[in-house]
Amino acid sequence: MPDVDDVQDGKNYHFGVPMQANAFFLRGSNSLDWGMKNRLARIFNPATGKTVMLAVDHGYFQGPTTGLERIDVSIVPLVPYSDALMITRGALRTSIPAEMSKPVVLRSTGGQSILKELSNELVAVDVQDAVRLNASAMAVQVYIGGEHEHQSIGNLVKAVDAGNQYGIPTLAVTGVGKELVRDWKYLSLATRICAEMGAHFVKTYFCEKSFARVVAACPVPLVIAGGKKLPELDALKMAFEAIDQGAAGVDMGRNIFQCEAPIAMIQAVRSVVHDQEKPEKAYQLYLSLKKDSQVIPNRS
Ligand code: R5P
Repeated sequence: MPDVDDVQDGKNYHFGVPMQANAFFLRGSNSLDWGMKNRLARIFNPATGKTVMLAVDHGYFQGPTTGLERIDVSIVPLVPYSDALMITRGALRTSIPAEMSKPVVLRSTGGQSILKELSNELVAVDVQDAVRLNASAMAVQVYIGGEHEHQSIGNLVKAVDAGNQYGIPTLAVTGVGKELVRDWKYLSLATRICAEMGAHFVKTYFCEKSFARVVAACPVPLVIAGGKKLPELDALKMAFEAIDQGAAGVDMGRNIFQCEAPIAMIQAVRSVVHDQEKPEKAYQLYLSLKKDSQVIPNRS
């Protein structure tokens, strides 16, 4: 029965307390709708503004990558230490328990392999399937300067338009062809184009010189890929430099799952990203956690 008396007296309207109109914590994201912001706030930690995404989508063009031969065995134990999981729908449905609570950044382009021209991709997931999978974002590769540059920008546009209908943000991933140089000029060009085409966040590579310029010229959050496996201290130094120059996090794969002690490494990376720990200290953390964790031989 409705509480008719409730409409009378005794309420507290907090007269004199203005409604909060706080700016959203992520760069360039203030004008987004609530659902988009909420999904982004699952990927990026609102307390630090940063994220440690775990990238395990490599199989979509290079098959059973070292460390990803059995995602159910080697990646599931890492998931609790990540802020988000970047993965294909095939790997998600087959190998990740649906009980996991981390946001999914769904690999949404593909259509080629390492045996062919990598930039020849298409949108490989319907947005409705992304909704079914409860994706928090879709990830689309963009090959600026690549043979199929135009097509890959078209894929980004399609994903952004589809995602905008459902409140699902799009991550643009800058794929760099072998013939191109990953310097700040190229990375600024690529990341800025992605943001201008509507990407809600962008994944790119770190560059030694002037990475801060790449960040400054990109009006949405930038996260860095780890790239090929490096010695752990070097990977931590790279993450530190990127964060120090304004990156909003990492989307790291091989430098975590190809480590001898992946659970130790992801925690060391977290300390750099979320706590601005110095790389040397984070490396000590890695070594001490490694002592207590299962070491996978013949790695690194
Ligand atoms: C690249 O095409 C994929 O998106 C990978 O997930 C990503 O770049 C790999 O991360 P990492 O370079 O750290 O292994």
